[in-house]
Amino acid sequence: MKPGALQATLFEALRSAGDLIRRRFGREQKISFKNDSPINLVTEVDQEADRLIRRTIKRAFPGHDLLTEESNATRNRSDYKWVVDPLDGTTNFAHHFPQVCVSIGIEYAGRIVMGGVYDPLRDELFWAARGRGAWLVYKEIQTRIRVSSNRTLQSSLLLTGFPYDRRENADLYLSYMKAFMSRNQGIRRAGAAALDLCWVACGRVDGYWEWKLKPWDCAAGKIIVEEAGGRLSDFSGGRYSIYGEQTLATNAHIHAEMLAIMSGLRRQAPDFSPVDRESKT
Ligand code: IPD
Ligand code: CA
Ligand code: CA
Repeated sequence: MKPGALQATLFEALRSAGDLIRRRFGREQKISFKNDSPINLVTEVDQEADRLIRRTIKRAFPGHDLLTEESNATRNRSDYKWVVDPLDGTTNFAHHFPQVCVSIGIEYAGRIVMGGVYDPLRDELFWAARGRGAWLVYKEIQTRIRVSSNRTLQSSLLLTGFPYDRRENADLYLSYMKAFMSRNQGIRRAGAAALDLCWVACGRVDGYWEWKLKPWDCAAGKIIVEEAGGRLSDFSGGRYSIYGEQTLATNAHIHAEMLAIMSGLRRQAPDFSPVDRESKT
């Protein structure tokens, strides 16, 4: 493969979907609901963005595999897999709340090698490639990004999010919120997980945790945080997987402090874990 070919297609896919989202932002949308859930929305723009991205990737790399939120996964048995969230922050988008993005991570032989997240409303494109650093492109100027240098949880700003099963698992998710809320300078819930990770990577926040993200929420963000000098793990400090249930991403300095609080929560309630929506209904 020609050097730069992956990156060119990644940028083209991010920008074409992002331009569509920007054009349609603030207008009335046709909305449907996923998995019989009244809070899990999907708009026609999610689906149009998905089609645009798939077309761009298939044109450039017809043999590569695709895992996207809005379509069935392909099974070409390629070493390459593009992991795509065509519109992250759908609830924000549907309410005209300006925090949305497109997220695309590229796996090679099971390892993420490149990823990009485009925020079309701020025109900020975050991207990273394994061993080549993490970058922010703004108005065609590219600057290297790094996580913050904040060393203590007490002086930090955190982000979190609540998954779509939050009605079933409210107590569990709130126990984490409660444990953290008196131990830092603030917690934000912005509503687009891929951007949450990028904001850790560029130092706008110091740490972020969320339960039950999907691979397309965090495939790009994972490599962007790592290449910016941050750390990711599950809530026990174990190896991070985009296919797992727990995401903790920090500037690395406050990671141990956050893990210690999570470990305290597990000691208090060792059997407390999310209930599956499916097993309740
Ligand atoms: C959601 C957003 C949200 C997070 C949810 C995600 P979507 O993605 O990233 O911030 O809390 O867990 O599912 O549905 O807007 O693509
Ligand atoms: Ca998402
Ligand atoms: Ca989405």
